[in-house]
Amino acid sequence: MNTQEFIALENEYGAHNYHPLDVVVADAKGCWVVDVEGKKYLDCLAAYSAVNQGHCHPKIKEAFLAQVDKVTLTSRAFRNDKLPLLYKKMHEMTGYEMFLPMNSGAEAVETAIKLARRWAYDVKGLAEDTAEIIVADGNFHGRTTTIVGFSDDPDSFKGFGPYCKEAFPMHKYGDLEDLKSKITKNTAAILVEPIQGEGGVVVPPAGYLKGIAEICKANNILFICDEIQAGLGRAGKLFAHYYEEVRPDLVIVGKALSGGFYPVSGVLADKEVMLTIKPGEHGSTFGGNPLAAAVAVRALEVIEEEKLVERSFEMGEYFVERLNAIGNPKIKLVRGRGLWIGLVLDRKARPYCEKLMQEGMLCKDTHEVIIRIAPPLVITKEEIDWAVEKLTKVLAEDL
Ligand SMILES: Cc1ncc(COP(=O)(O)O)c(C=O)c1O
Repeated sequence: MNTQEFIALENEYGAHNYHPLDVVVADAKGCWVVDVEGKKYLDCLAAYSAVNQGHCHPKIKEAFLAQVDKVTLTSRAFRNDKLPLLYKKMHEMTGYEMFLPMNSGAEAVETAIKLARRWAYDVKGLAEDTAEIIVADGNFHGRTTTIVGFSDDPDSFKGFGPYCKEAFPMHKYGDLEDLKSKITKNTAAILVEPIQGEGGVVVPPAGYLKGIAEICKANNILFICDEIQAGLGRAGKLFAHYYEEVRPDLVIVGKALSGGFYPVSGVLADKEVMLTIKPGEHGSTFGGNPLAAAVAVRALEVIEEEKLVERSFEMGEYFVERLNAIGNPKIKLVRGRGLWIGLVLDRKARPYCEKLMQEGMLCKDTHEVIIRIAPPLVITKEEIDWAVEKLTKVLAEDL
């Protein structure tokens, strides 16, 4: 079957909840993917940062296959011999006392919300059903009904209500004064992305995360940091909040936690928060299964062994420098951290992403005018040079 035949099948029988570029990927390795006609593309999206380690990383594949031969799922009704090793690894890498594993990112965000609320009732002493969690405008935390209920993007929330808006007051991202004005006696937590990814790689002003940490401390409020996309090296640090030397009370992880092999997510916290949820009060059939745990441990080891965090920082600086040097007036701004770059254009980005695809480079437009560039962290300087060459060529056109 060719590209058009696959697309026709998909359009006919698949839900139309995405608007993908018309490339049908059949194969992938490292930073490159190959379509069904055998054409190669440089992947500058990395599955929204789930394949930070590169596609089909051989070390993670080995762990995956070894585990598939043993046991894949026990459910949490029984224990398994891989999950404790993931707990240990998470603790050693991050310093948090405990980890609660889930599958998708949205589930992990839901888990953090439940933990914060339970902590607010059991430890902070709020009256039942009064807890508020302050979120930011422009947020993206996933697609469940609770989460879209506190999104300000109509594509996310419109037509899926009713919602409980008063449980999630919204402040202006980056604005500490506005944040302070939203705090009440019922505030349980503040939930933010350290850099807003879906919002268009928006880096908040310096001091914002530090300010949140201080506000939380002063008001006995939990700081929840959604590192699902920003974390595990993408932004040039293990976690993007490291740039401001803060320690959120809860850190939400996902995506690259499995290197793209499997949905693995979860929440990091210390015992005071984590142990508020008791046996039987939260869980998931697949969360913490042995296959997920084996893959996640190896995916984390690969980040360390291949120094992907440092690499992201260095290659990101190089990429941004090269992009700034293009000097095309259509580029209004180059922003980001590490290998997470938003190229803000003075016009619609989608036609340029489509043209780049024809040139063999895959990246995704966001918020109309932004080209998001987030390749696997294993990208080389030569590959970056190649990408800049393609961008220079395509941006020279009027599309
Ligand atoms: C910051 C952030 N939080 C949560 C999510 C949701 O993750 P998932 O799509 O795995 O549910 C995403 C996905 O893009 C994200 O970027």
